[in-house]
Amino acid sequence: MGNTKVITIDGPAGAGKSTVAKALAHRLKFSYLDTGAMYRALTLKALREDVNLESEEDLVALANKTTIDLQGDTTAGLKVFLDEQDVSEEIRTIEVTNNTFYIARAPKVREIMVEMQRAIGTKKNIVVEGRDVGTVVFPDATNKFYLDANFEERAQRRIKELEEKGKDVEAEKLKAELQDRDNKDFTRKAGPLKKADDAVVIDSTPLSIDGVVDEMMKYIKNG
Ligand code: DC
Repeated sequence: MGNTKVITIDGPAGAGKSTVAKALAHRLKFSYLDTGAMYRALTLKALREDVNLESEEDLVALANKTTIDLQGDTTAGLKVFLDEQDVSEEIRTIEVTNNTFYIARAPKVREIMVEMQRAIGTKKNIVVEGRDVGTVVFPDATNKFYLDANFEERAQRRIKELEEKGKDVEAEKLKAELQDRDNKDFTRKAGPLKKADDAVVIDSTPLSIDGVVDEMMKYIKNG
């Protein structure tokens, strides 16, 4: 891993990983790496190009001819570039969200994603968030966290976030989709969501963003 520091945050959808990872990176003056954005960007390209999502071989071929770049800082916001095109907004649609599992469950595609993530992580100090970043991508990370929150709280946070964007939300549908994503995240064979043995577990249910970051800072040396 060289001389760079890597702090990993894994956890289920809606636990607050992105918000917390950005806030922590900001405090530490580290870069921020959103690995989910990379899975989303490749999914978007597969949907655009009508690639057969069931075919691992086709997905590998697609991944091998794709560049995904994350730019920006934690204040200005992170921009996601797919083959040099800014797709930061498009990767957040429900269509992309509900189709990422095809990319996420394909072991050979994950290998390519993991290599891309390591290439970024060995260049600078980073806070990285995802599902397998403490277990598979950076097993020797400087600090590892597993951020959790109860299901109802995670669902309510998602609903609030969407409502704030002026979207109509069907609560029951959203909960069913979140449950489905949880099931897929926890049960896939390659890179499932799992707490690393040496990760510190933080339950964000009763905490504010700053509360979670303060808690993390207690574990980070010279932080
Ligand atoms: O964190 P997110 O919701 O943006 O992630 C999008 C999807 O990508 C999620 O359904 C699971 C997958 N993912 C993954 O398999 N491994 C990661 N390290 C990050 C995300």
